[in-house]
Amino acid sequence: MGAGQDIHQASEMTERFEPPADFAGSAHVPSFEVYKQLHQRSLDDPEGFWREITDDFVWFKPWTQLQEWKPPFVKWFVDGETNISVNCLDRHVDAGRGNRVAYYWEGEPGDTRTVTYADLLADVQRFANGLKAQGLECGDRVIIYMPMVPELPVAMLACARLGLVHSVVFGGFSADAIRDRVNDAGARAVITADGSWRRGRVIPLKATVDSALAENASPTVETVVVLKRCENAVDWNDDRDVWWDKAIDGQSDVCPPVHLPAEHPLYILYTSGTTGKPKGVVHATAGYMVYTAYTSRMVFDLKEDDIYWCTADIGWVTGHSYVVYGILANGASSVMYEGAPNHPAEDRFWEIIEKYKVTVFYTAPTAIRTFVRWGDHHPDGHDLSSLRLLGTVGEPINPDAWLWYHRVIGGGNCPIVDTWWQTETGGILITPLPGATALKPGSATLPFPGVEPEVVSEDGQPVEDGERGLLIVRRPWPSMIRGIYQDGWGQSGHVGEFGDRERFVDTYWEKFPGQYLTGDGAVRDADGYFWVIGRVDDTLSVAGHRIGTAEVESALVSHSSVAESAVVGAPDPITGEFIAAFVTLKAGIDGDDALEAELTAHVGETLGRFARPKMLKFTDALPKTRSGKIMRRLLRDIAAGREVVGDTTTLEDLSVLASLRGDDD
Ligand code: WTA
Repeated sequence: MGAGQDIHQASEMTERFEPPADFAGSAHVPSFEVYKQLHQRSLDDPEGFWREITDDFVWFKPWTQLQEWKPPFVKWFVDGETNISVNCLDRHVDAGRGNRVAYYWEGEPGDTRTVTYADLLADVQRFANGLKAQGLECGDRVIIYMPMVPELPVAMLACARLGLVHSVVFGGFSADAIRDRVNDAGARAVITADGSWRRGRVIPLKATVDSALAENASPTVETVVVLKRCENAVDWNDDRDVWWDKAIDGQSDVCPPVHLPAEHPLYILYTSGTTGKPKGVVHATAGYMVYTAYTSRMVFDLKEDDIYWCTADIGWVTGHSYVVYGILANGASSVMYEGAPNHPAEDRFWEIIEKYKVTVFYTAPTAIRTFVRWGDHHPDGHDLSSLRLLGTVGEPINPDAWLWYHRVIGGGNCPIVDTWWQTETGGILITPLPGATALKPGSATLPFPGVEPEVVSEDGQPVEDGERGLLIVRRPWPSMIRGIYQDGWGQSGHVGEFGDRERFVDTYWEKFPGQYLTGDGAVRDADGYFWVIGRVDDTLSVAGHRIGTAEVESALVSHSSVAESAVVGAPDPITGEFIAAFVTLKAGIDGDDALEAELTAHVGETLGRFARPKMLKFTDALPKTRSGKIMRRLLRDIAAGREVVGDTTTLEDLSVLASLRGDDD
């Protein structure tokens, strides 16, 4: 991997950035010593450590048992009862902080709204009553397919208030992808909008939901709630569809929260794995609540007067944890933005930071590399002096992009928290604490309290410092994935033992029993700093979006012209990786530019536009080993334009290699 290679070299660099003294002076974790003590205590005395943190939350029934760990199944705060919507909303309003702004929302066309905690609480309760009136009950699954508007967190929190298990589907996903998720989750309702704004155009969300549900393809869905956002025309099904405004019409703005057991599933979020079928990652109420709240506070050093902005879409886990739950649990004020970074102009983000005086800014390396390309004059034209802390997430950040971010956006005096985590981890696991940790550009640095990562070899032994290995986590943490959703989840007893047990074990636990396999490769340096290099399995990170090669392959072979396909990632200077597809066609069909465009579009329709291959090559055959395995390493070399290296003697047909490289062109 391109970025990975950079990082590996960077781990030998010695440049360090100490926390600025004035920052450290007022930080929640003000020194490295304090961090070390916290981390040590979290491992030595987890019970006392988490007790102090959880005391700040509202529990209908306080927990007495911290944890039940029957690998690979874990429960946290086992016998407690709570509700995350109460901890995100009522708790602050009850403390007299209802007038505090939860979201400064900026719509793409320039419309704005300011939503206070009191507003949000009233909206959530009204909408929750609306959902109840539709007949939804605790434990039912609800798919949410919405734009970045305040009603999206309202919908999530209303579900959480009632114990409905939401599954947010990113607005860029196609009808097929929605249908798969609706059916896997057995959803009874879908919440959507007429459309969403993207670069001045309306993306018709309701129409996409209609095609996902067409011809009774998803028989479990009884209700579709539709928010009016763009005023675009929509088809209507009277038996199924209800406008958001109608759903809340006449509903009370008081809705008592359901007292939920700690392990009640809060949400399902689908993520790509190594097979064609996305995994429904399940998170549990209390552990997720506590961990996202605590990481938000410590990693982003949240204070009363901060204006925080995370640019992630709520459709991904970063948005769940660090636009919605963890941030609201702290009663913090955030900016929420609906549109694209280059609409109407390439300085949109800097304009927003200046306008709202954003103090903490959290974005993805792919965005930073794009900003570098767009030019310094965009940020230079705005007053960014309100910023005091920067963050990144989603992929390794190459040191050049890090240094640019630090200098041009942070004015040379904002710490950068490079946060490593995953959909499955629920919250940040490896990260600097900005007042405590000396930074090395390209390293996510050190484990968060409660987290015990390690870099090991294939046989599970720790590798030497500076050697590459597999990143694992030795003990469970509160927001750990509880399992992969499967019909029947949570109907009794220990929810963790439900779901797709086999896939859960195979993916994360089989290799090193009792230790969580992240799927990432990493190096630990002599200072104990972690350098995450990238995925070691067949998932790609394209512009920070996680995409399974198998998903793209099955989208390709679902086209009538395609016989077989192999998809790999190759380094890209902006998006980290790009998708390269190698395709063999059925007999009698010739690959030409028109078919290439058609197949690319087909992947867009099947999965979503963000999953379209950037390179698509037709070939007479795919290179395979004698046992029939596709030689991906070789395809990766070809896609990257590298010399094909290594042992190719097991190639089934050496001429395939020549034709793929274009030697016969
Ligand atoms: C990658 C996103 C390096 C990693 C929160 C991980 C990172 C995958 C970082 C999870 C980082 C995330 N440095 N790599 N700071 N953060 N990754 O599930 O490969 O969309 O396994 O969660 O992103 O992607 P996911």
